[in-house]
Amino acid sequence: MQEKIDLLVDEINSFTANGFKDAEEFRLKYLSKNGKVSVLFDEFKEVAAEQKRALGKPLNELKNLAQNKLNEIQEKFTQTSVKENNSIDYTLPGDAYQTGSRHPLSLIRNQIIDIFNKIGFSVADGPEIEDDWHNFSALNFPEEHPARDMQDTFFVEENWALRTHTSSIQIRVMEKQTPPLRLLAPGRVYRNEAISARAHCQFHQVEGFYIDKNVSFADLKQTLLYFSKEMFGSQTKIRLRPSFFPFTEPSAEMDVSCMFCNQKGCNICKHSGWVEILGCGMIDPNVFTNCNINPDEYSGFAFGMGIERIAMLKYKINDLRLFFENDVQFLKQFSKVI
Ligand code: DAH
Repeated sequence: MQEKIDLLVDEINSFTANGFKDAEEFRLKYLSKNGKVSVLFDEFKEVAAEQKRALGKPLNELKNLAQNKLNEIQEKFTQTSVKENNSIDYTLPGDAYQTGSRHPLSLIRNQIIDIFNKIGFSVADGPEIEDDWHNFSALNFPEEHPARDMQDTFFVEENWALRTHTSSIQIRVMEKQTPPLRLLAPGRVYRNEAISARAHCQFHQVEGFYIDKNVSFADLKQTLLYFSKEMFGSQTKIRLRPSFFPFTEPSAEMDVSCMFCNQKGCNICKHSGWVEILGCGMIDPNVFTNCNINPDEYSGFAFGMGIERIAMLKYKINDLRLFFENDVQFLKQFSKVI
């Protein structure tokens, strides 16, 4: 019996484990019910009483040795097996997070707001569903004006429509506040248009207006020249062409010198050297009267521009639909204002 114990001690000591599954092999071989150590314990029961005292101690030591060895193997390979199976390798460079970027229309809107903030304009807001009064009547649109037609305007119900321009915010502000007023009103507008590269049923505008005593057309011109240079560069020139809007008199459309060809002539400016960016004019006295502001005391100018139009010129985008498709490939190009 002592010989068997000595043999097993040697065997156990020289057992080398190479992986986690060897722990189970070891356990089965020595410590399971039919394992070599357990079998010795069974034999021990049969040993004569006088030998028991001498063999008990080494047998127990053998069992402890086997148990410690098993623990050792399990511990060693539990740690490495977690390492082997764990897919996280801390030495690899990290995965970059996909961060979002501002929408190009938001960038341009913010830039417009910043430019006008510097000369004292603050921001006003208004509802996207408007009544006839704020969208049309108060702005001096005659009853039979085509914009009031279903063909051009999305009506929600009689007398209520999705606003067709941000000029309606002008009315809302003028009704509630007294001049001097120097405000910018950005927002989404809707028109019943077929969707194409150049037109959409929804787009964005910024309305601006300045109302005070003695505001003149010269003030309008200087303000718009300042804006154009800030937006498109200090070399930019502007030109005002007579136009018509029901809510301004006189009215004009403003062009800026073509930023693509320096007025040498290109496809964008259709070889004219100029690109149109906004409508403007002196606020019609009827509009003042409609909002209980005395036109003999106050005068003012107003202007309105499409944000998409400015963004297309700044970023050289040739299809309006891209702004509304939420294609990340397109959007992520605009993380910085250029
Ligand atoms: N509301 C006009 C439009 O949607 C733009 C506009 C033109 C606004 C002239 C104005 C203005 O304030 O004076 O086309």
